[in-house]
Amino acid sequence: MGVFKVKGGKKLSGSLTIQGAKNSALPILAATLLIKDKSVLHNCPDLTDVSAALKILVMLGCVCVRDDNTVIVDARDAANFEISKELMREMRSSVVFLGAMISRMGRAVITNPGGCELGPRPIDLHISSLKQLGVLVEEADDKIICTAPKGIIGSEIRLDFPSVGATENIIIAACISKGTTVIKNAAKEPEISDLADFLNRAGGKVKGAGSSVVTIEGVNRLYSTEHRVLPDRIVAATYLCAAALTGGEIRLKDCNAVNMMSLLDFFTQIGCMVKSNGKEICIRGKEIYRPTKQIITDVYPAFPTDAGPIVVPLFSKIGGVQSIKETIFQNRFRYISELNKFGANMRLEGDTAVSFGAVKLKATEVKCTDLRGGAALVLAALCCEGESIINDIHHIERGYCNMHKCLNAIGGNATISEV
Ligand code: EPZ
Repeated sequence: MGVFKVKGGKKLSGSLTIQGAKNSALPILAATLLIKDKSVLHNCPDLTDVSAALKILVMLGCVCVRDDNTVIVDARDAANFEISKELMREMRSSVVFLGAMISRMGRAVITNPGGCELGPRPIDLHISSLKQLGVLVEEADDKIICTAPKGIIGSEIRLDFPSVGATENIIIAACISKGTTVIKNAAKEPEISDLADFLNRAGGKVKGAGSSVVTIEGVNRLYSTEHRVLPDRIVAATYLCAAALTGGEIRLKDCNAVNMMSLLDFFTQIGCMVKSNGKEICIRGKEIYRPTKQIITDVYPAFPTDAGPIVVPLFSKIGGVQSIKETIFQNRFRYISELNKFGANMRLEGDTAVSFGAVKLKATEVKCTDLRGGAALVLAALCCEGESIINDIHHIERGYCNMHKCLNAIGGNATISEV
């Protein structure tokens, strides 16, 4: 298993280019199944979750080639309609392939993605939405068997919760269909707009992505296209936090600041200097920060749940009571016990994590519990004198390209090793 060794205590400085967004690349890769031709994705991050998505596409009969950050998917011969249990386990969000498989092959067999580090990951909204599009769904053992005997038929779907994945599945499934589909209470995350941009570039007719009402006018086919995946807003927030934690000053390139307003507001409110021209973001940190109102994570454009773990290590530099309330995932705070091994002194009160003033963190050995919780531990290590050891970094490699190299490019001292 991989291990990070981080020697902290230095102010970070320098500039860094932000990777493409994992949570945009994954649904777009699923959508390439709809195109009986080649699709070219630029700025596609080289991550283990993306590799898992490419393995799924190959299993379904596609040819996938990666050239640095460009991925070419040739889906002309895609014909298989079953994803193995192993691959489903490798990546929970493989459920987003469901709509694409049913649209392309007329049927799909997956195993229930099951829960993950963040808690149960139900797919009831995905299934109920696909049924409204004319899909027949059977569950046998742990398999979910979907068929669309009459093809995908447009419908009006109101989501009980603005699920990102369910919104993506509906958009993908309805893109090539008979009639028009309207999604009400759709998720508004920027990654959904990026998916719609890709599909429209390929000849789709998706309107309203990024708002709570998305209309998809079914077309007969989509065509080969190229697309550049949008920048990863959570990865950008991670490195901004690294600078803030060490009192450093960094410049991030190839960002999309407009997608990060709630995050940039937080950094400003506690006392960081933040400047942005939209594509670049500069941050200058301090030694100590002022508390701000309770952070409450919620669906976009509120403070993103994925950024919660990223900012919590900064609470150790806030001179006063600071809390964060998690409203999306039940087990989002699993990393807190590991963070407290640095001396963070965070207290959990149900769905809220609270810190009661600034503390000096001390180097220690910890282990990652999940993707963003693991990133939080690396961030904490950056502001400790001495060497910290972070185990089970495979969680981090799901969402961060070469995190140690990125940190070292801005003055960090991180090494990776296998044990
Ligand atoms: C996406 O997950 C992201 N993953 C998550 O990022 C992100 O945290 C989440 O959206 C919220 O923004 C990808 O895009 C690959 P949801 P997703 O469906 O689609 C419940 C990361 O760190 N729900 O919006 O799974 C669910 O249990 C990952 O990059 C149902 O109840 O999120 C959760 O409580 C972590 N039934 C809430 O909705 C359903 O059918 C949010 O889920 C679907 C979801």
